[in-house]
Amino acid sequence: MPQVEELISPQALAARVKELAAQIRRDYQGRSLLVVGVLKGAFVFTADLVRALDGLDVQVDFIAVSSYGAATETSGTVRILKDLDMPVEGRHVLLVEDILDTGLTLRYLLDYLSRQRPASLRVCVLLDKPSRRKVEVPVDYVGFAIPDRFIVGYGIDWAEQYRHLPYVGALREEEGADRE
Ligand code: PRP
Repeated sequence: MPQVEELISPQALAARVKELAAQIRRDYQGRSLLVVGVLKGAFVFTADLVRALDGLDVQVDFIAVSSYGAATETSGTVRILKDLDMPVEGRHVLLVEDILDTGLTLRYLLDYLSRQRPASLRVCVLLDKPSRRKVEVPVDYVGFAIPDRFIVGYGIDWAEQYRHLPYVGALREEEGADRE
């Protein structure tokens, strides 16, 4: 298995999640919020973020998509593997993603959810890799901008490995692949 180099420590992640949550709490004060985590990658971030939103009226749902499958480069075709359980119409929706890379996944999800007429739709991503963008997507909350390395940990995988790491890391160059 490739070696992993730590890029963002558990402490730095926790501190940034707290800051993002404080912003979100301010923005959604007095409103009912539906947080939608994008599986699988965002499961850890979503779990930490919603626990920092105490004081808000929050519901949580998940949507599972796959844009890469076994490939390391996106095909651009996003498949919904598990749809939302709750209706989105009339809700204030916050879409939570682990990583924004080409933007194709988020573009697809924003179009998909917009068609269901939410009251509002915002995006929160933990990691942004701006150098890889193929389509522009509006993002409201960003945790960290990161370099173009293959990222793992804190929910994010390499061949389904490393999702459980408590930090965000990068595969070491000599063994790394070319995505995330
Ligand atoms: C990853 C990540 C994002 C997407 C970002 O998901 O979790 O959803 O890719 O890439 P993009 O901006 O280039 O579209 P992946 O398809 O690897 O599935 P996973 O979340 O189940 O690991």
